[in-house]
Amino acid sequence: MELKLWLSFLLLHVIHDVQSSPGLWTADIPKTIPALQGSCVVIPCTYNYPKPASKILNRWRGFWRKGNKIISTNLPKWKLNSEYKKRTQFLGNVQRRNCTMLLDGIRKTDAGPFYFRIEMPQYKSFSYTKHTVSIEVVRDPPPPSLSVKVDDDKVTASCSVSHSCPSIPPVFSWSRSGIVTRRSKRLNKWKWEAVSTLTFQTRLSDFNKHLNCTVLFRGGKQTKNSTILQTW
Ligand SMILES: *[C@@H]1O[C@H](CO)[C@@H](O)[C@H](O)[C@H]1NC(C)=O
Ligand SMILES: *[C@@H]1O[C@H](CO)[C@@H](O)[C@H](O)[C@H]1NC(C)=O
Ligand SMILES: *[C@@H]1O[C@H](CO)[C@@H](O)[C@H](O)[C@H]1NC(C)=O
Repeated sequence: MELKLWLSFLLLHVIHDVQSSPGLWTADIPKTIPALQGSCVVIPCTYNYPKPASKILNRWRGFWRKGNKIISTNLPKWKLNSEYKKRTQFLGNVQRRNCTMLLDGIRKTDAGPFYFRIEMPQYKSFSYTKHTVSIEVVRDPPPPSLSVKVDDDKVTASCSVSHSCPSIPPVFSWSRSGIVTRRSKRLNKWKWEAVSTLTFQTRLSDFNKHLNCTVLFRGGKQTKNSTILQTW
């Protein structure tokens, strides 16, 4: 009786496991990601493969490629092409079907398309060439959005930008001193929003003057927005 129960429990789990991994050569990768020149991008990636009959050995090899050129791998001693050496980092865990990769110092020539390849010893290898990602390299960052709220004698200003480089997020600076706080939010799989909020007690000298927010991105590009504090 107990054994039967245990067996049906096991069976249920096996069925569930099969259903949750459809067992196809598929990869979940965005088609295009806009990213700022000079900055970095984290390319989210997960992949799937047909379930093998027996356990696969260790030492899985994962490669990111552009054509036949290898741009990133999980193998730490691999000699990468000089064009990508030190600019890519394999962040994922291949055995957990995670092929997430970081590309830094983005160049105009980094448009791609890039694709992932997995090599599982004594099982199979596969190149996910139908699931490529392209980088839409943006030359200049758009200005941040800047909003200001004045109540009584206090000003609260918020400056926000979106970016693709969570490891080295943008740095904000304000033309007026005050208390600065910052927060970050993930907008989707590859896009983050960084917000800087400045608050200060107003003095008469603050009015009819520019209040500027400057944003410095990874790689050195800057962008700015400006507003004039109005007297009421
Ligand atoms: C894949 O790995 C990255 C980097 O470690 C991590 O941020 C991400 O959450 C992982 N994705 C999944 C689906 O587990
Ligand atoms: C400044 O921020 C405002 C509010 O977010 C926005 O509407 C405006 O377009 C920005 N200025 C520039 C120059 O883009
Ligand atoms: C703020 O921006 C305005 C308009 O772009 C500029 O004229 C002014 O010099 C800037 N002020 C500071 C302190 O950066």
